[in-house]
Amino acid sequence: MNRAERLAAILADFAKVEGALLPVLHEVQAAFGCVDAEAEATIAAALNLSRAEVHGVVSFYHDFTAAPDPRPCLELCGAEACQARGVDALLAAARQTAGERVRVKTVYCLGLCSAGPAARTGDRPAVITAPQSERTKRSQPALNDSALRPSVAPNDAA
Ligand code: FES
Repeated sequence: MNRAERLAAILADFAKVEGALLPVLHEVQAAFGCVDAEAEATIAAALNLSRAEVHGVVSFYHDFTAAPDPRPCLELCGAEACQARGVDALLAAARQTAGERVRVKTVYCLGLCSAGPAARTGDRPAVITAPQSERTKRSQPALNDSALRPSVAPNDAA
């Protein structure tokens, strides 16, 4: 199945679904690694929307990209509960360590708020078992070394 056929099949799957734009965009992103301008135009025509409406949604949500990025992606939750548990330091450390080899993204709430900081690679959410929050690190500087080496533990509940 070529790209045009695959896109047509995705659109056919959602032909009778009300409010199909977001599900279609997620399917296209998953299938092609991006929602490019050509796909936006095809989706707009199929859903009887303007190209601007489709592009507005694509550019608003960070889940959609205009071009494929083959690098592995690490998503770290930057929402309030994970911020309180020290995700900002983890983000900085992850970006510094990964450099350009890994795409490190901030997302907002992975549903693991009580156990965060939360992360996701692919479809697999996980909790980062950092032993200290930022506040704890400031008050207990002797423990800083272990906090800079967080391990990612799979979430059994996910
Ligand atoms: S706030 Fe981070 S998982 Fe919910």
